[in-house]
Amino acid sequence: MKQLLVLAAAAATLFSAFSASAQTFPGSKPITFVVPFAAGGPTDRVARDLAEAMRKSMGGGANFVVENVNGAGGTIGANKAAKAAPDGHTLLLHHIGMAAAPSLYRKLQYKPLEDFEYLGMINEVPMTLIGKPQLEANTYRDLENYIRTNGGKLNIAHAGLGSASHLCGLMWQSAINAKEAMTTIPFGGTAPAMNALVGGQVDMMCDQTTNTTGQIEAGRVKAYAVTTTKPLSNKLLKDLPTLQEMGLKGFDLTIWHGLYAPKGTPPAILAQINTALKLALKDPDFIKKQEGLGAVLVTDKRVEPAAHKAFVTAEIAKLRPVIEAAGKFAD
Ligand code: MLT
Repeated sequence: MKQLLVLAAAAATLFSAFSASAQTFPGSKPITFVVPFAAGGPTDRVARDLAEAMRKSMGGGANFVVENVNGAGGTIGANKAAKAAPDGHTLLLHHIGMAAAPSLYRKLQYKPLEDFEYLGMINEVPMTLIGKPQLEANTYRDLENYIRTNGGKLNIAHAGLGSASHLCGLMWQSAINAKEAMTTIPFGGTAPAMNALVGGQVDMMCDQTTNTTGQIEAGRVKAYAVTTTKPLSNKLLKDLPTLQEMGLKGFDLTIWHGLYAPKGTPPAILAQINTALKLALKDPDFIKKQEGLGAVLVTDKRVEPAAHKAFVTAEIAKLRPVIEAAGKFAD
């Protein structure tokens, strides 16, 4: 009987500690968004916009910090977040790389489905195939013909093995059945890669519209096609052909971003963060900022943790054969 009373007391203490931490969360300590790519890129953009919206949805009392931890296609940052203290003050903001990395890294330092608590999906973003200003090809047709025969003579920038830009490059080269793989040039994120492209140091890239819209509109890069089956709504880019229209049947790549906490973060804190995320996704400023860059905030059930996790689980399974089929372009 005595053991039972001791156990009950321990459970009550533990519960009150959890609920107390939830009551005081986030307290004075900032909430850190770990962004696994360089500052200024599309993932960083989503993080900074979301931080602003969540600061509001949490009543202005929460401070947010964005920490860029880049390298190895986002897996270094993801691993750092997985190993962080599960107290709600370190969250990972990541994209489709959560689902691509398991098929590209034999020894991943973390397990995407076991080592994280899922907090909800954030947005979906199309990608555009772009080239340096000096690239001879002016239309998608010119580009595809050139790559089919001269692929090996050109290079393509990306943000590391398993990044969205890497995934798009390997899927595209596989879909056009390029004779030989383009030389790939990895960067810490597509912000530095974009600088190299605009400067003519690299030839091509496939990147999210969050990062490419401004450069295309300013004429600093050439735009060839969109990776989604739906054309872009942006008035200047709405005539950009989709890869499907260009004959790549079934080519449909949409990048998505989600929010994650380390496994073991108290449920009450997870619920608080998810509630703040849902409110932030309805913030008119956030919606406007993202839509202006071609992204759409998620409004369906994937903002619920269970549906978010089910979606990523399905994406891992969907991408595995695609990555295996494109294996020779994987790097
Ligand atoms: C990617 O290619 O995965 C992202 O664009 C990287 C980034 O956000 O910089």
